[in-house]
Amino acid sequence: MLDVLVNIDVDDLDAAVGFYTQAFELRVGRRFGRAAVELLGGSSRIYLLRNRPGSAPFDGAPAGREYLRHWTPVHLDLVVPDLEAALARAIEAGATQETVREHAWGRIAVLSDPFGHGLCLLAFSERGYDAILGEGDPKAKRLLVVAHAPSENTRRMLDAVMRGARHPDAAGVEARHVAPLEARPADVLGADAIVLLTPENLGAMSGAMKDFFDRIYHACLDRTEALPYSLVIRGRHDGTGTKRGVETILNGLKWKAVERPLFCIGELDDACLDACEELGATMAIGLEAGIF
Ligand SMILES: Cc1cc2nc3c(=O)[nH]c(=O)nc-3n(C[C@H](O)[C@H](O)[C@H](O)COP(=O)(O)O)c2cc1C
Repeated sequence: MLDVLVNIDVDDLDAAVGFYTQAFELRVGRRFGRAAVELLGGSSRIYLLRNRPGSAPFDGAPAGREYLRHWTPVHLDLVVPDLEAALARAIEAGATQETVREHAWGRIAVLSDPFGHGLCLLAFSERGYDAILGEGDPKAKRLLVVAHAPSENTRRMLDAVMRGARHPDAAGVEARHVAPLEARPADVLGADAIVLLTPENLGAMSGAMKDFFDRIYHACLDRTEALPYSLVIRGRHDGTGTKRGVETILNGLKWKAVERPLFCIGELDDACLDACEELGATMAIGLEAGIF
């Protein structure tokens, strides 16, 4: 196995040790005088290297080192179990949060350390990078799950839908989650059935879900008629505004409801999660059996 070492140039060694040990589950290993410190606890050893701003990283370098915010074509991804907790801890230690995004493979936060280096925190979804493997089996039927899951509860609902969608009785179905802000018309045009999951915000579907419809509507109009779908709504008090709004759009697209909308309103309980799983399974098994 190739032994990979990570080197991070910094202009202040003590500050860097403070940041990296506070922000992440790392501890100090060997100290090499005032020049470098080894950090242990990651899958690779990390060396913090003290180097003056402006110093040349190699002979003939066109530019010296700089510690303003910058980006190099090689960067660190740190895999964490809980993105929010890891992000809060890193910010507390002195990181600057720049972007948080959701993908089929998981969630990512881009940060800058106090020395201007970009770092990404990754929290993988259940399938991780497998979720974006090629097109898979060309004969497989495709179940697309467009879910806006901005909270712990909505993520649990999404996980339950995906668990159901990967039911062993639907082995010929490829179920894939895509966040609404990431979904493109091609995702919908390539789907054999679709599950929509949205929170109710301000009496309507979430802005992200509305953005999804805004972007796919014209490309999918007259090309996705009778697409089987089901709808899951998460709200604290009510979900009727969301149902009305989504159904108005889907009447226009002429998609075909497989089931009545599933409302998960109020405290999220096991019954709701079971219903989400059952809905995912119904969609996948129905698709496999050719019922829709
Ligand atoms: C700005 C905002 C507006 C909301 N409006 C509604 C609403 O109109 N009706 C409702 O039932 N819940 C509403 N909620 C609650 C969300 O639906 C709920 O927080 C979301 O579905 C995530 O579920 P959770 O809070 O259990 O994680 C709102 C939440 C936010 C942040």
